[in-house]
Amino acid sequence: MVGELNIDLILNQIEGFPEVGKEILAEKMTLALGSSSAICASNLSSLGLKVAFIGKLGNDIFGRFIIDSLKEKGVDTSLIIIDKKLKTGATVALSYDEDRAMVTHQGAMSHLGSGDIDSGKLKLGRHLHFSSYFFQPGFKDSLHSLFKKAKDSGLTTSFDVQWDPIEKWDLDLEKVLPFVDVFIPNEVELKKLTGRSDLNLAITTIKNISKYTVVKCGSKGSVLCYGDKKIEKTSFLNKNVVDTIGAGDSFNAGYLFKFIKGNSPEECQVFGNLIGAVSTTRSGGTAAFRNLETTMAIAKEKFSYTEQER
Ligand SMILES: Nc1ncnc2c1ncn2[C@@H]1O[C@H](COP(=O)(O)OP(=O)(O)O)[C@@H](O)[C@H]1O
Ligand SMILES: [Mg+2]
Repeated sequence: MVGELNIDLILNQIEGFPEVGKEILAEKMTLALGSSSAICASNLSSLGLKVAFIGKLGNDIFGRFIIDSLKEKGVDTSLIIIDKKLKTGATVALSYDEDRAMVTHQGAMSHLGSGDIDSGKLKLGRHLHFSSYFFQPGFKDSLHSLFKKAKDSGLTTSFDVQWDPIEKWDLDLEKVLPFVDVFIPNEVELKKLTGRSDLNLAITTIKNISKYTVVKCGSKGSVLCYGDKKIEKTSFLNKNVVDTIGAGDSFNAGYLFKFIKGNSPEECQVFGNLIGAVSTTRSGGTAAFRNLETTMAIAKEKFSYTEQER
């Protein structure tokens, strides 16, 4: 797994919206492992896969919290680069029911680049997942070379683009997607990237360059597209969402868990929906994932899901 690392300070049950010059209260606060890539890595590892992370941190208390959190979930942190000159990034997330407002200081994450990742490191794995392109300027215009290196090294690949904080959506999909096996954006991101406001048109735009496209559609579920197929699967709807932080990253973990084990795309999609839904039953992106058994127990209790149901 290659990507950004930061902590999340999550504020819940907030009385109204913040305004400059005023102060409001949040009933609940959680400090958690943040960043899409780390949440996905942590949850994949909790589900039982062997996961190693390549990212960059400062030599500070947030950095140590991240390493400890990843280690606690069994993620191999030995390839993480610690740079004394940099500060570990942080996100403050204001959570409101099914959505949230976030402010991020990128810190060390913006200093990781394709040059930090050689084929030797990649060959240690079977699959490469990369997330959060726009938060990592070190990969600007060179992401395709990272994916190409992975493909040349015999790995399968996946890519979750994530949000563009400056909303320019400047990414050449034609260059990148030919080296990506599974492309996993959310609905809004795909529309923005393709410049299409209609989801079907957005999907059509990348049909010939993307092998498997999986579009996450929030509480609606997801759409899987490959070849001429377009499969919509409704979510395991959670009507009592604690927060949706990490739902998409958990979806990725669920999808990739089944993908790496060689399941069909449809099975991967259903499991992605399930793991995304499970994530919404706890605060933050990782609390619902300790090991496969406890996660499946939540799945059974909250969504009546058992492995036979596919
Ligand atoms: N309220 C919900 N109930 C059940 N599942 C949900 C809910 N919200 C999100 N999910 C699941 O999590 C997945 C990812 O959420 P989404 O918000 O689309 O991603 P992202 O976090 O990347 O924006 C969805 O595809 C869906 O399967
Ligand atoms: Mg996402």
